[in-house]
This record gives sequence, C-alpha cells and structure tokens, in this order.
Amino acid sequence: MWKFKSFIFNLLSRIPFGEKLLRLLQIRPLGRSRKKTQSINPIWKKHKKVIDTYCSNPKFIIEFGAGNSLGQNLYLSNVSTEQYLYDLHPMFNAKLADLTALYLSSIGILKYKKIQNRNDLKYYNIKYFAPYNVLDCNLNDYFDYSSSTNTLEHIPFNELRMIFTKLHRLLKNGGIVSLQVDYSDHYSHTDNKLHPLNFLKYNESEWIKYNHKLHYQNRLRHSDYCEIFADSGFCILDSKIEYCSIPINFKIAKEFSKYEQNSINSLNCFFILQKK
Ligand SMILES: C[S@@+](CC[C@H](N)C(=O)[O-])C[C@H]1O[C@@H](n2cnc3c(N)ncnc32)[C@H](O)[C@@H]1O
Repeated sequence: MWKFKSFIFNLLSRIPFGEKLLRLLQIRPLGRSRKKTQSINPIWKKHKKVIDTYCSNPKFIIEFGAGNSLGQNLYLSNVSTEQYLYDLHPMFNAKLADLTALYLSSIGILKYKKIQNRNDLKYYNIKYFAPYNVLDCNLNDYFDYSSSTNTLEHIPFNELRMIFTKLHRLLKNGGIVSLQVDYSDHYSHTDNKLHPLNFLKYNESEWIKYNHKLHYQNRLRHSDYCEIFADSGFCILDSKIEYCSIPINFKIAKEFSKYEQNSINSLNCFFILQKK
C-alpha cells in the first residue's frame, strides 16, 4: 500500500501542476484537512502554553511552513500583535481557514469574520507570505516568538542549519521557539501495517526511490536536531520525546548505527528553545 502511494507521489512530482493536484486530492476526496478543523489540535495548546509561560504578550510571532488551514495561527490570533507566516508554497486554503475560524468562534476562541482570501487574514492579525522562503526574511531582532509544527522533518539537514541560523538573527535576545517535530515514517500514517520507523531499514540510495519531492522526509533523528539547535545558538529549555512502543523487528540500515538507541526509537518531540 505505501509503495503504491510512493508511486503516486513520484508521478505527481514529475508532472506540471503535480503539487496542485496533490493538494486537491488531499483536501477533497480524502476530506482529511476538513475534519482537522473540527477540533483543537493538542499541539496548538502546547504552543500556547509555551507563550503563556515564557513570553506572555509577544508582539511579533514568526512561523515558516504554516500549512493550509492556518488553524494553529487562528487559534493563536489573540495572543500577539501580529503573526508573520512564510511558506515556500502557497498552501493557504481560504475555505479551510474560514471553516476553522467558524469553529474557533463557535467555542469562544475568537470573533469570527469571513475569510475569502489572504487579505482577510489581517482581521486575525496574520500576515501571510507565500511563495516566500523564510531565508529571505530580513526583519532582524524583530520577533519575540516562533513556532513550527510537523515541518522540520520535511527539510534537508543543510537547509535546516541555514534556517535556524537565520531564525537566531530574526529573534530578539532571549526569544523563544517551540517546535513539534515528527520523527516517524510518514508512510506509516496511512498504512497501519507499516512499522512507524520502517524507513530506517533503507540505506540512502534505496530510500531515494521512495523519498519524492512532494513527500520528502529527512529521516534525521533526535540528536541531529539537538546538534542543529545548539550550533545555531539556541539552548534547549525543554524537550518531551515520545518513544516508539512497537519493537523494531527489522535490521536498521548501517548509516543509522552511529545513533544511540533512544535517538533511533524516538517518534516525535516537542522542543522549547531560547536564543542565547
Ligand atoms: C508539512 S508542511 C506544514 C504543516 C503545517 N505546519 C501543519 O501543521 O499542518 C511543511 C511546509 O514547510 C514549508 N517550508 C519548507 N521550507 C521552507 C522555507 N525555507 N521557508 C518557508 N517555508 C518552508 C513547505 O513549503 C511546506 O508548506
């Protein structure tokens, strides 16, 4: 099943408008993103708790890779003066964002105003920039706080290093970052027969066959992220790791032998960082 999915990603990665087609498939027939708007993602609450604890009333927030419904940003819309969102790809979907805003207003999180396009986000104190590489942002020492959810695992190692060096410049002294990083094999999210860490059995040249532009996973482990954050000038205030409870019953590829077992077994982590 996951290999078929990989085949489709490969196909879509090679055709013009493949990315647009993928977004349509994900939003319409699968209805996955639509369902997401009808609940509060526990990760949004974690980010809010970090803001309340470490930097209450932040003026400016920055996020890269915000996704399509901007649910997290709408949820956080009352806690700061302004949120700046940067995305390489214009993933924003006004219908999904509108449904999310309606839902959030129905439970008293915000006051609703219809969202028909990205200009309507101003009402929610959101500035949305896409297509835009966060590396091109030059608002140095501007932001109090940055968050990211399930984005870093889709960015190659060297680019992550550049992004965190940039983020260090963009944040004010003492600025706070909270991050949810998903270390699992994303093919296992839709194929319950697949081990959550199945991708660790492949060496790099085998994995390339399944790791397509439109479904890229860097396979970095927990210790790699700790290294990137420390090298970019951040200290880790807290990190809550979830480990895989299913025993690994296959041989791990040689290139992962340098990692400690805990780093291999980690499934996801919620980090809190501070600019040193
Ligand atoms: C998996 S999606 C984001 C998911 C979203 N955070 C959520 O919770 O639904 C990752 C996004 O990161 C964006 N991205 C990757 N590198 C980036 C960069 N250098 N600058 C801005 N956005 C970037 C990609 O375009 C993509 O839209």
